[in-house]
Parts: sequence; structure tokens; C-alpha cells
Amino acid sequence: MVNMIYPSRFILAPMAGISDLAFRMINRGYGCGFAFTEMIHARSLCYESRKTYDMLRSQESDQPLGVQLLGNEEAYLVRALDKLPARGIHSIDLNAGCPQPKVVKKGEGAGLLKDPALLQRLLSALVRHASCPVTLKMRLGWSDSREGLDIARRAEDAGVQAICVHARTQQQMFSGAVNHAALAAIKKNVRIPVFASGDIFNGLLAKQMLEQTGCDGVFIARGSLGNPWIFREINDYLRHGTVPPEPSSAQVAQVMRHHLQLCREIYEEDAAVVIFRKFFIWYTRGFAEVKILRQRANDAKTCAAVETLIEAFDEQGARARICPHSRAAGTMPLPDVPK
Ligand SMILES: Cc1cc2nc3c(=O)[nH]c(=O)nc-3n(C[C@H](O)[C@H](O)[C@H](O)COP(=O)(O)O)c2cc1C
Repeated sequence: MVNMIYPSRFILAPMAGISDLAFRMINRGYGCGFAFTEMIHARSLCYESRKTYDMLRSQESDQPLGVQLLGNEEAYLVRALDKLPARGIHSIDLNAGCPQPKVVKKGEGAGLLKDPALLQRLLSALVRHASCPVTLKMRLGWSDSREGLDIARRAEDAGVQAICVHARTQQQMFSGAVNHAALAAIKKNVRIPVFASGDIFNGLLAKQMLEQTGCDGVFIARGSLGNPWIFREINDYLRHGTVPPEPSSAQVAQVMRHHLQLCREIYEEDAAVVIFRKFFIWYTRGFAEVKILRQRANDAKTCAAVETLIEAFDEQGARARICPHSRAAGTMPLPDVPK
């Protein structure tokens, strides 16, 4: 593909508290061609925080992988590069999109959008020091969706090789419609690849996003929660205009077992249960009669208890869907950004 930094047009977006090795591997198994770590705080990495290092856990088959950094201090961002593993990192992304108050009040994440000159300096420094391509993930602006074009141009001037834009402003958080026109204006006015993010929950929404913005590809975040099949769906829809059948409850149970197993291999038992509980809720979204199973999953203390609940979900045979996963995904509550 010409001028493409990523080997795929359909990318698993970074999600704090979610995009761990297990989650990435599950999505890679269903057609995700590129994945990111969750945002990694540059300063914490420099202080060699154990928790932060754990977020970098990867393996050979977890490729290609982008690492996303969060921060607004040049010295820490540059030093963080030296703390990253020497191999297995395809590109470094800077986060200028996280809208959470506790992040932006420090001038990080989408807070960087208020200081385009600083953002450009940080990107230039990363480009100078990184031994791999540097990318930027941003929002349309802080409060005005026209701000994004200046930022995108500055990123291009800084030597960034691709940008991804969540087509909302920081002030919008996750509310309101994504702004296709503002994103199209950015795409039209820079030469580097531009990827679109926001509300891509199925093949049709991906197609509309690509057609209306001219973007080079899409990042998928909430639509992948409990739904790794979204990558296959988008692929099929864009290639053939067809929509594959929604996975059956038996298929969902099989993936849940695999995902839980990966969590067990990566984490201690207690952590594996806590991490997987939220996925149980997401995987079972849209199915009938799951309320009690989900309540039990929330209270589960051991992986064995979670396995029993997956069996219970599976054993009734073909469990009916109340609504397609893609519709349920749009109403997903947003987990808080972890400390
Ligand atoms: C729980 C959650 C955590 C997120 N964490 C990050 C993050 O660490 N870095 C980032 O750039 N964006 C993060 N995002 C934003 C997503 O990558 C994406 O741009 C946004 O959710 C819009 O896409 P969607 O409608 O497909 O969810 C996060 C989103 C969610 C829902």
C-alpha cells in the first residue's frame, strides 16, 4: 500500500485499562492488523514503575505493535524512549487525545491541543530521538473543531508519519456526533496518512467514515470490546458489501474461554479475574437472559468461578440475541482512566 505506515487499514485503537497483551492477541486472531499498547505515562516509565513496565508486556506474535506515550515534558518523553524494549516496537505514538479531566489539567493528552507550539516541539524531539516512526493521536481540537488542521500540519512539519484523529473535540468528551466534515478538511490538507477514530461499531459505519472523510483507515476502540469479530465484519463489508452473521453464543463462549486463559497465563489469579470480569460483561452484551450471569461474574473471585459462568452461558445452546453487538457497543459505559 502506497504511503502507508501501518500494514492494515483497520487498527485496534489504544484504550487505557483495556489494551493489554491478552486483549490484543484476541483481536489479532480475528483480523486486527495493527494494535497499540494503552497509553504509557512517560514520566512513570522513566521512574521505572513496575505497573508501567507491566503495560509493555508483549510477545513475538503480538506484532506489529505501536507504543503510545502520554506526557508533556520533552525530557521525560525522550528518556522514556530509552526505557522501551529495543526490539518489537513498530512505532511510537504521542497521545494528544485523552480528554479526562485528571489528564488534561496537567496539560497532557488532549491538554496538549491548547499549546500547539509545545506539541510540535515534543513531536520534533520524539522524531529526532526515536529509532522507529512517530505518530500522533489527537482530537479535532480543544473546543473548536477547526483547531485540528493547524495541529495536523504542525505534526507533519515535525516529521510525524501518520495521525489518527478522534473526530470530536476535547470538550465533547464522548458526546455528540463525530464530525466527518472537520476530519475531511484535515485529511485534504496534509500529505501524511490520516486515520479516523470515533463511533465505528460496524462495517457500514466504517464505510461511511472512510467515504465521507477520505481517510486512509480507521481505528476501532469501543466497537471491539467483547467483539473481536468487528475486524472481520469491516473487512467483509468493505470488500464484498456483505455482513457476516453475528457470532453465536457458543462462539462467544469459546472466545471468552480463550481470553480468560490468556489472562491466566499473563497475570496472577486475582488480577486475571478482575481484568476478565469486565470482558464477561462486554462479551455477553446483546444476549437474552444474561443479567444474573453478569451479576455473578462481577462478584467472581476465582478463574474457576468465571469458567463456570462461561459454561452456564454456553450450555443453554443457541442463546438468543436481543440486539446486534454493534448497536449495544455505542451505549457502552466508559471505564475510568486508571491511575
Ligand atoms: C476506555 C477507553 C480508554 C481509552 N484510552 C485511550 C488511550 O489510552 N489512548 C488514546 O489515544 N485513546 C484512548 N481512548 C480513545 C479511543 O482510542 C478512541 O479514540 C475513542 O474511544 C473513539 O473511538 P470509538 O468510538 O471507536 O470508541 C480510550 C477510549 C476508551 C473508551
